[in-house]
Amino acid sequence: FAPRHLLSIADLTPAEFATLVRNAASHKRAIKSGAIPQSLLGSMSGKTVAMMFNKRSTRTRVSTEAATVQMGGHPMFLGKDDIQLGVNESLYDTSVVISSMVSCIVARVAKHSDVAGLAKHSSVPVINALCDSFHPLQIIADFLTIYESFTPKAHGLSSLGLEGLKIAWVGDANNVLFDLAIGATKMGVDMAVATPKGYEIPADMLEIIQRSGEGVSAPGKLTQTNVPEEAVKDADILVTDTWVSMGQEEEAKKRMKAFEGFQITDDLAKRGGAKEGWKFMHCLPRHPEEVSDEVFYSPRSLVFPEAENRLWAAIAALEGFVVNKGKIVE
Ligand code: CP
Ligand code: NVA
Repeated sequence: FAPRHLLSIADLTPAEFATLVRNAASHKRAIKSGAIPQSLLGSMSGKTVAMMFNKRSTRTRVSTEAATVQMGGHPMFLGKDDIQLGVNESLYDTSVVISSMVSCIVARVAKHSDVAGLAKHSSVPVINALCDSFHPLQIIADFLTIYESFTPKAHGLSSLGLEGLKIAWVGDANNVLFDLAIGATKMGVDMAVATPKGYEIPADMLEIIQRSGEGVSAPGKLTQTNVPEEAVKDADILVTDTWVSMGQEEEAKKRMKAFEGFQITDDLAKRGGAKEGWKFMHCLPRHPEEVSDEVFYSPRSLVFPEAENRLWAAIAALEGFVVNKGKIVE
């Protein structure tokens, strides 16, 4: 029996994605009010989560460890200097060996093919904790944040009632954007993406994003531009991320230059004509060049609730993929 993995939001149907977000929301409400749902209590008891992290992490590490402990399981952090992988042992051998001893692998690696390879040979669910193409745990938390911050319309199981909202992404076309765009397409949320010339969404990724709208009655529309003001027009939410992702450090100087003029500021929102009540989101860690302090620390900014929501997203993902073995139900 092959385990079900979570490598990208693209692996989820719209109903499953919406259910994970709703489950995260209801577990958050219940746990914060002191009523831990019976179905969660001790649900990971006796289960070990191997966290194979080849890159730094604050939020993903802390949220995964805390979620595992809250559910009664044991997180085992395996940093890049702790295990033989990459130095002395192949991905195949590592995957077979680790998965024979634990209940789940949460992996942060560089290449998507590495996490996909790990999943292929693992006998337990693999959850992608960020690779160069996707960041599904972040996007469950992001949609939870949007769901809590905007008034959802009446909706069925396959939706979050967020249809008609518009997200403007101003900055680099990266892993976080790709999965966010997939989630938005599935949820009927429109996205306008502004990147500098030469930093647009690659064609193969555009295809994945577009395909993720198949079977959705009114999929979110994606547009691209090289002009930040154009993307921001009528947007409800302005989003960005670092201009230099982990692994791109050598390109830092070139990127800083290319992204000049792409900082999110109040002035950009005004010039571009964002909606009056626009909000700001960022997966963090943040650097001042991509967003001004006046926006980042303003009441418009959802960044800290968004970061906290990583915990509730991790709980919902572990419940769906480990406790319920890939069956995503309310
Ligand atoms: N947003 C996010 O994934 O943060 P970390 O790199 O700190 O885990
Ligand atoms: N795009 C960033 C996200 C970090 C959470 C990176 O890959 O480094």
